[in-house]
Amino acid sequence: MAANTDSSGSITARAAAKINLHLGVGEARADGFHELTTVFQAVSLFDDVTVRPAAALSVRTVGEGAADVPEDPARNLAARAALRVDPDARVAIEIAKTIPVAGGMAGGSADAAAALVACTRLFGADWDRAEVMAAAADLGSDVPFSVHGGTALGTGRGEALAPVLSRGDYHWVLAIAKTGLSTPEVFAELDRLRAKDEATGETTRTPDALLRALAGGDVDEVAGLLHNDLQPAALSLQPVLRRTLRAGTDAGALAGIVSGSGPTCAFLCADAESTVRVAAELAGRGVAKSVRTAHGPVAGARIV
Ligand code: C5P
Repeated sequence: MAANTDSSGSITARAAAKINLHLGVGEARADGFHELTTVFQAVSLFDDVTVRPAAALSVRTVGEGAADVPEDPARNLAARAALRVDPDARVAIEIAKTIPVAGGMAGGSADAAAALVACTRLFGADWDRAEVMAAAADLGSDVPFSVHGGTALGTGRGEALAPVLSRGDYHWVLAIAKTGLSTPEVFAELDRLRAKDEATGETTRTPDALLRALAGGDVDEVAGLLHNDLQPAALSLQPVLRRTLRAGTDAGALAGIVSGSGPTCAFLCADAESTVRVAAELAGRGVAKSVRTAHGPVAGARIV
């Protein structure tokens, strides 16, 4: 048995969901990815990934939306993370999901990040932080942030990270949509809207003012500076989200935004108490499959 396993030989790692407080999308690159400038915040919805030695590599998912996650090891991101640590990985992986699937909150990336952390420990891989981050970037654009956690500025395709100074706690209500959105389809829709000149002309907006507001810990100012270039594309694919966004601000949120590629809508609230009121009102309007509260920033992927 490898070091640091429990008596059953299993190791569990936990990773958080993310919200993009700012998501600036540049042109599509030759490799198909878009150049991004984004500010990530890790928020308190978590997936737990447990790995234990087994005869063969397998994946089982439980929890909310588990039926929509592929369990085929060739396609499952947690299994691909295990194979990245050891090409002959023989582990049973169990993923306990609370992060919405295809929700724009990096649920798959969180599973990959947690699996990387758990498998490097289980296999006794002598990797330094840079090796973990390089493996994370190979697995997906958001995976390095899922390892990192907290608040960070992402550039490149989102994988190049710099820590961001952020004061205070931010309180969110999350409206989880009835059907998910595919990230590549949302980027493609943005390209289509831009080609037709229908997207907003805010693509050159920088996150500088937001970074200052985060350093100062001013939630009202942060609320006024939330920005997502992908939002017009997500709204174009799911027009009903306009109603969801309006319902959240009508209910008393400071601001609402589509999270990443959507369709989850994230509402920033003044404090923890107001999230309870906003969540209850949003749930009552029936605009979402489910409504959750969360706070951020929280830590990156870690053994629990
Ligand atoms: O990196 P990841 O596998 O999460 O990306 C999923 C898809 O999202 C990519 O294949 C691409 O279509 C789109 N994407 C993009 N630009 C980025 C990140 C993702 O176009 N910076």
